[in-house]
Amino acid sequence: MIGRLNHVAIAVPDLDQASALYRDTLGAKVSAPQAQPKHGVTVVFVELPNTKIELLHPLGADSPIAAFLARNPSGGIHHVCYEVPDILAARDRLKATGARVLGDGEPKIGAHDKPVLFLHPKDFAGTLVELEQA
Ligand code: CO
Repeated sequence: MIGRLNHVAIAVPDLDQASALYRDTLGAKVSAPQAQPKHGVTVVFVELPNTKIELLHPLGADSPIAAFLARNPSGGIHHVCYEVPDILAARDRLKATGARVLGDGEPKIGAHDKPVLFLHPKDFAGTLVELEQA
């Protein structure tokens, strides 16, 4: 069912430092920071040949990654995003197995302007999983 790894999202306490790490130390192509107020994050996109890394930093008062960074002050992997061809079919199939979809279970428009859903980490080997219709 799942296809490509679309991205790995890493929450970071210092976006400039993390950008420099990926750009200068690791030699990757790194975007300028992009504020995404609707999603409560500022994102730096790291383009790799086969996928992307998204460096996430909290934006605004109730950022969805604030609690994660409070628990992981030096940052850490926040979620992985897999592509699916049909997000509603994927959701229904997963729900039928008992997997929990976060929120109200309806896809939201994600950071790439495509429908996304998040799956409960306790049902997926301790990893927050994002599905994106690609
Ligand atoms: Co994501």
